[in-house]
Amino acid sequence: MKRAHIKGVGHYLPENVVPNAHFEKTLETSNDWIISRSGIERRHFAAEDETTSHLASHAARAALKDAGLEANDLDALIVATSTPDLTFPSAATMVQHQIGMTGGFAFDIQAVCAGFVFALANANALIVSGTAKRVMVIGAETFSRIMDWTDRGTCVLFGDGAGALILEAADGDGTAQDRGVLATDLNSDGTYRDILYVDGGVSTKTTGYLRMEGKEVFRHAIEKLAATAHTAMDSAGVTSEDVDWVVPHQANIRIIKGTAKKMNMPMENVIVTVQDHGNTSAASIPLALSVGKAEGKLKQGDLVVTEAIGGGLAWGAVVLRW
Ligand SMILES: CC(C)(COP(=O)(O)OP(=O)(O)OC[C@H]1O[C@@H](n2cnc3c(N)ncnc32)[C@H](O)[C@@H]1OP(=O)(O)O)[C@@H](O)C(=O)NCCC(=O)NCCS
Repeated sequence: MKRAHIKGVGHYLPENVVPNAHFEKTLETSNDWIISRSGIERRHFAAEDETTSHLASHAARAALKDAGLEANDLDALIVATSTPDLTFPSAATMVQHQIGMTGGFAFDIQAVCAGFVFALANANALIVSGTAKRVMVIGAETFSRIMDWTDRGTCVLFGDGAGALILEAADGDGTAQDRGVLATDLNSDGTYRDILYVDGGVSTKTTGYLRMEGKEVFRHAIEKLAATAHTAMDSAGVTSEDVDWVVPHQANIRIIKGTAKKMNMPMENVIVTVQDHGNTSAASIPLALSVGKAEGKLKQGDLVVTEAIGGGLAWGAVVLRW
């Protein structure tokens, strides 16, 4: 049976690192409050002239280098983002051009913070169906462009960045010992539209700002993340004991810890980057995968579970063997 193996990974973070203290100057907040409620210590913000496609292209080049491939070795390129440079064309076609990929196809996926998991599941489907042999999946965001800097309940939580993963078709024997993507689980429920959304877009002729009922999102997050992780693990035929690493969406350390507990996973087996990146939405999982590999944690053969939830609500999980 065909499997989508991991060929390479890379990431990019804008140069500008913003510590929590930055917000103490303009808002009634504190470094202590932000750390205790979210685990975030700093985040990166893109420069004025840096767009989502620029961040994504940097990450794409890093992943190509890691895989020992050229842009034209790719058949397809997917960018998961809710903050594309323009309404259209897609950020993915912009990245395709910027990295010098002259064939194949490129498109965006928009599932907010769950975007990377949705894109990974779709890339896997393209490979398993024989539509593409090599697919780059990028999560890239410039959430700093949709922050209301007067809203202390949101603006301290998000950051900018990009991560990229390259998948390649390979043969497997259909067991949980195979390398590559083993199982995916995707979900959404539009009845929760109003607890996490942007109050602008094409219909308002504005870009808008992120609005969130933090407590409500928090309430859904742990329950839905643990459930989707369990569904994906069941479908892969593995249990928590088999899992080497959980690589969760990096929104909040309290959500990460609560979900790990419900999954019976000790925190030593969870890759955490939220303290350094904040919530980078669709970029957070590929950023954590890339950092995890660079730190020597993720090794070939390791069993990995990724899980994410975001606006929609949309949520899902992917089980893969590195
Ligand atoms: C946003 C979040 C950190 C707030 O933490 P919380 O413990 O739920 O805090 P509450 O919302 O109950 O707010 C408690 C108080 O802190 C205040 N507060 C909010 N942001 C603050 C800040 N940056 N600094 C200081 N106080 C703040 C609130 O105004 C509230 O004050 P009040 O009681 O006087 O009204 C938390 O709800 C959360 O992480 N939610 C999930 C968010 C998330 O991860 N979203 C993305 C998912 S993809």
